[in-house]
Amino acid sequence: MKAYNTMRLSFDSRSANEAFARTAVAAFLCPLDPTVEEILDVKTAVSEAVTNAIVHGYRNSIGKVTVSASLYENKRVVIKVQDRGCGIEDVTKAREPLFTTAPEEERAGLGFAVMESLMDKLKVSSKPGKGTTITLERVIRSKEAANDSAR
Ligand SMILES: Nc1ncnc2c1ncn2[C@@H]1O[C@H](COP(=O)(O)OP(=O)(O)OP(=O)(O)O)[C@@H](O)[C@H]1O
Ligand SMILES: [Mg+2]
Repeated sequence: MKAYNTMRLSFDSRSANEAFARTAVAAFLCPLDPTVEEILDVKTAVSEAVTNAIVHGYRNSIGKVTVSASLYENKRVVIKVQDRGCGIEDVTKAREPLFTTAPEEERAGLGFAVMESLMDKLKVSSKPGKGTTITLERVIRSKEAANDSAR
């Protein structure tokens, strides 16, 4: 199925840009009329993926992070966060809760678990030395549907 609306952002892997990225994605989703909770969930998942690109993908260097979002029929949203950094040696292991390669920075190893719990789907594709692409997918229910089920 073809997306009916798309956007793409590219920015330097500086931590100051993480808020920019999550806010831009949230603004792009506004026409879908998401609930506050849905917006917060998506912002948190984007924030985890972008932070990973910045702190792990481009450890000790600055590179480009690309965030794209596509809207499909029935309020399905697909977001991709891509870096061309160091890549992940073992994706299965990296996705395990509490696994981190940066314990000295007091990282909890929970970023992927958070993304997985807040989104409907999480895909991680990565090649060592080439970079990583995270695909996040979620269906927005809309305020009306949320209000109906609360009645
Ligand atoms: N974009 C990336 N490039 C390279 N390695 C990554 C990338 N994203 C994740 N990783 C690897 O996967 C591990 C797990 O990521 P995850 O986000 O779950 O935990 P964390 O970032 O270590 O800790 P937290 O997210 O809780 O601060 C990381 O420690 C890192 O080794
Ligand atoms: Mg993380």
